[in-house]
Amino acid sequence: MWSVGLILCGCNQRSLAAIRGLTHPSHLGSLQADKSYGLLMENLFDLSGKVAVVTGSTKGIGRAIAQQMAFNGADVVISSRKEDACQSVADEINAGLGGKGGKAIPIPCHIGYKEQMQQLVDSTREQLGKIDILVCNAAVNPYYGSMMDIPDTAFEKILDSNVKSNHWLCQLVLPEMVEREDGVILIVSSVGGLHGSAVLGTYGISKAADMALARNIATEFGPHNIRANAIAPGLIRTDFAKALWENPETLKATTANASLRRIGEPEEIGGAAVFLASRAGSFMTGQTVVIDGGR
Ligand SMILES: NC(=O)c1ccc[n+]([C@@H]2O[C@H](COP(=O)([O-])OP(=O)(O)OC[C@H]3O[C@@H](n4cnc5c(N)ncnc54)[C@H](OP(=O)(O)O)[C@@H]3O)[C@@H](O)[C@H]2O)c1
Repeated sequence: MWSVGLILCGCNQRSLAAIRGLTHPSHLGSLQADKSYGLLMENLFDLSGKVAVVTGSTKGIGRAIAQQMAFNGADVVISSRKEDACQSVADEINAGLGGKGGKAIPIPCHIGYKEQMQQLVDSTREQLGKIDILVCNAAVNPYYGSMMDIPDTAFEKILDSNVKSNHWLCQLVLPEMVEREDGVILIVSSVGGLHGSAVLGTYGISKAADMALARNIATEFGPHNIRANAIAPGLIRTDFAKALWENPETLKATTANASLRRIGEPEEIGGAAVFLASRAGSFMTGQTVVIDGGR
């Protein structure tokens, strides 16, 4: 009765927030443009004014995420181990946007080194002022074969690069997000973290840990209005997975039972990342979004 009355009589922002269960001050702020609960006339996917850091964004999925975020208004940091590649992808994005959307800047960083991650964070803050959106995308897989034969060095490298490095980067960025009471973290996991594998077992373990990392961040920092989600792509046409999709047998095995009967393209991950980072995804946290063409 009370809430019906509010809806019919037209609501102020606080009562809207109460109806929605959004009582956080920044949520109230985000409702500024939302004068009418039933008629939301704004682009929920707009990232204007946001700053996004995307690791491993000179190629493949990371580049597609950075491109889509910039296209939707965010300033994005293009990052990988190679400085020249970062510069050329940033140039390419800026040229493609032609002054519309956000802008891209290059900051090289090898995710295996904590000091380089600190430099990535410091330099982003120096050049763009803040980090609203962190996308932990870069990962490695130096081993293909039975778990019985994996060398300790390869096991450690996979866990270090794919889990510990993401944990480090989140540790570096979360305090700023807590202070601002606003932030989004995306971790690029894999369907490999959901299924067993006789040849990519340790990689799958690392990607399952990434899903847990996102869930734990969501739980611990949700009260500070910080959201964290994982994206789990299936087989995507990138250099990283080339050995799989170039092999006719693996390709057939992967696509035969997929609803869409094909592998994915990097661009098909970018839009989901924009959704999760934007107001469109504002009630979504602690989840893993599977994007695999249906299996
Ligand atoms: N492709 C798939 O089928 C697939 C499926 C599921 C999940 N994924 C996940 O998607 C993410 C991106 O993979 P992708 O397929 O897009 O790979 P990709 O096309 O090979 O791109 C990898 C990117 O990461 C950078 N990179 C590699 N090692 C790095 C390091 N140590 N430090 C910093 N940057 C590094 C690369 O640039 P530099 O070499 O210049 O450093 C490049 O920009 C990974 O987390 C992967 O596990 C991929």
